[in-house]
Amino acid sequence: MDHFLYRDGALYAEDVAISEIAAAVGTPFYVYSTATLLRHFHLFDDALDGMEHLVCYAMKANSNQAVLQTLAQAGAGMDVVSGGEYRRARAAGVPGERIVFSGVGKTRDEIRLALEGGIRQFNVESEPEMAILDAVAQELGVVAPITVRVNPDVDAKTHAKIATGKSENKFGIPIARAREVYAMAAAMPGLDVIGIDVHIGSQLTDLAPFEQAYLKVAELTETLRADGHRITRLDLGGGLGIPYERSNADPPLPSDYGALVQRTLGHLGCEIEIEPGRLIAGNAGLMVSEVIYVKSGEGRDFLILDGAMNDLIRPAMYEAYHDIIPVIEPAPGVAPEPIDIVGPVCESGDTFAKQRNMPPLVAGDLVAFRSAGAYGAVMSSEYNSRPLIPEVLVKEDQFAVIRARPTFDEMINRDTIPEWL
Ligand code: LLP
Repeated sequence: MDHFLYRDGALYAEDVAISEIAAAVGTPFYVYSTATLLRHFHLFDDALDGMEHLVCYAMKANSNQAVLQTLAQAGAGMDVVSGGEYRRARAAGVPGERIVFSGVGKTRDEIRLALEGGIRQFNVESEPEMAILDAVAQELGVVAPITVRVNPDVDAKTHAKIATGKSENKFGIPIARAREVYAMAAAMPGLDVIGIDVHIGSQLTDLAPFEQAYLKVAELTETLRADGHRITRLDLGGGLGIPYERSNADPPLPSDYGALVQRTLGHLGCEIEIEPGRLIAGNAGLMVSEVIYVKSGEGRDFLILDGAMNDLIRPAMYEAYHDIIPVIEPAPGVAPEPIDIVGPVCESGDTFAKQRNMPPLVAGDLVAFRSAGAYGAVMSSEYNSRPLIPEVLVKEDQFAVIRARPTFDEMINRDTIPEWL
């Protein structure tokens, strides 16, 4: 459920008309709903009720400072994957003890930054990373709390580019080698081994792969405890999918997921951490764009928008489906017609949807891409020298620009001309 609904035939974000935001900030833009962000965070938080837990929002999904503060104020921790994200989390007021550091390629500088600034734990992904973390911690005279990310070799049944839990993926250490790696870690004076981490992929629409992975983690917990390790925390990653295609989707709810966690791991008495990104931010955001032209082609028509693949890359990159709806609700009985929906970028890949059934639209009409709050603005670029589009946050009847569109001068002046030119 989200808070983007038609009222009297016009699309609203909470109590603000989308057309009012468009008139104020220009198109294209992203708009996020505070109520939806908070609703999704609380769904997870409530789903883990009864177990000691922390929901660490995977801020890679949407790392705007205002989004982070909204969630942090509700009690969320953060899952970060770079020094930049660590700095953003701290700037949003998140204390180090609520920040988890994930990622396969943490640099010495990033490790130092987090050890000096405070960290809940590092999710270590390889032996060489473990050695560097141990060395940096010893240099600083501190002990780094760690989990080891294990790769359970489970097929997450999602798009190949976002599956991470198969042995062929670069993530984690093979679960079969876990005992050996935990023994190595326990012998390192700069490390304090506190738990196990697993994350098998993103946009999972079935609970079965989670269940397979978590049963393996449960077994590993018992084995490692028998080996003498103090396993008190399980980080279960993110990955729960959202209904991109409303007409034919029914993904599991956070409450189903919470029940699965209870069932597979509850008896171990560990503190549970989860790292959802998409399910918190995805349906809390729209990308709004204006129709520039309606073009007739050979056997098909094109709706050419002012938004493009640089603004929302998911369709081009993952063949992702986004619902695209008109901002003015079509009158009942208007027959939809198939049309290709494209952006102005000079690549055929700049196609949002092919032969999508849409009500008749004309230049100047607004459309909204649903489920664009996660992996939307954060993955955008200025390709074709198109400025990064603004982000707007709505709360009830208020809205505010939370990242402004850069001016063309700002964009051009980021470049510098060498002396010899
Ligand atoms: N934890 C770790 C270690 C991750 O790598 C990820 C996502 C998450 C948590 C959050 O997963 P979520 O709950 O959002 O599924 N750009 C792609 C998605 C990439 C996901 C990368 N890792 C997309 O637009 O579909």
